[in-house]
Amino acid sequence: MTKTVTLIKGDGIGPEITEAVKTVFKAAQVPVSWEEENAGQTTLAECGELIPSSLIESIKKNKIALKGPLTTPVGKGFKSVNVQLRQIFDLYQNVRPCVTTEGVESRFKDVNLVIFRENTEGLYAGLEFFDERLQISDSVARVTWEGSYRIVKAAFEYADRMGCKKVTVVHKANILKSAGKLFLKAGEEVSKDYPHIELDDKIVDNMCMQLVIKPQQFDVVVATNLFGDILSDLCAGLVGGLGVVSGANIGDEVAIFEAVHGTAPDIAGQGKANPTALLRSAIMMLHHMDLREYADAIDHAINETLKHKEQCTGDLGGSATTEEFTNFVIEKIKK
Ligand code: NAI
Repeated sequence: MTKTVTLIKGDGIGPEITEAVKTVFKAAQVPVSWEEENAGQTTLAECGELIPSSLIESIKKNKIALKGPLTTPVGKGFKSVNVQLRQIFDLYQNVRPCVTTEGVESRFKDVNLVIFRENTEGLYAGLEFFDERLQISDSVARVTWEGSYRIVKAAFEYADRMGCKKVTVVHKANILKSAGKLFLKAGEEVSKDYPHIELDDKIVDNMCMQLVIKPQQFDVVVATNLFGDILSDLCAGLVGGLGVVSGANIGDEVAIFEAVHGTAPDIAGQGKANPTALLRSAIMMLHHMDLREYADAIDHAINETLKHKEQCTGDLGGSATTEEFTNFVIEKIKK
């Protein structure tokens, strides 16, 4: 039976990489039909809405969406649509696997970790206060017991399901004695239900150092919103860059799948974007939808393509365009 998924093309390289996913899904005969919507600066210009009500209705109905990146103006303008969507649908888990791939150049071999980033609170709660007269800005990092507990629980559940040995809770409880301590305490509390999984904790600055020295020591990593955001770009750099790492925003009802990277304005519209990250996010989506057979077929085709540098896009040292890379992937699905 065909399932309907909401597709948000996004800005910058978004239309190019979502097109690649559509083409690959069609070639692999994935039983998914797309309901196309958009958000952000495009819809703001077209219909005066940042997040059109038709998009909200579509996601509510389909429960699953695949999203291209959306522009967020820096230091001015509207509040991030990405953050708003995560808050509207209470997508509290931002799951970002970072795995080395044969053929993709990286500093390390055998990195295989997954980051669980809290996705609805922390410094992204939007609690910013600016005193114009004194030129003082206060940004409040809201950390709640419920929010901390459920993301740590999701990380341990995943570790248990996947047979992982260790969960690392990342915090700054030496300085953030209230918020950091609450998050760490949630880790200690949840871990009691999983005595076979080691609870590790790291202060975020040490975590960064450990990651760039010996990333293989980590398995499942869980962090508050901002720390998780920064760590996932760092980890992307450990396994070949932003062009190859996927992500998922998961709640109890709805899930939105999207790459870790942004709109890449420097290469947008030039046919240079690497669609691997969004394709891999779409593979996570297929697993979530229990369409494993299709997920595995596409995953295999991508991995085979990435073994040949000449078939890769420029970010991976190749010279293929987005369309050429997509066609190489499709050839390998057909075999
Ligand atoms: P970015 O991730 O868009 O780009 C950083 C660098 O990585 C650039 O050099 C870019 O060319 C490269 N890159 C990223 N994705 C690539 C791909 N698929 N293939 C090849 N190269 C790739 O980060 P930046 O420049 O900080 O942000 C640009 C815009 O994207 C901003 O408006 C930002 O707010 C937004 N953004 C949106 C996200 C989302 O929708 N989830 C996530 C991150 C940023």
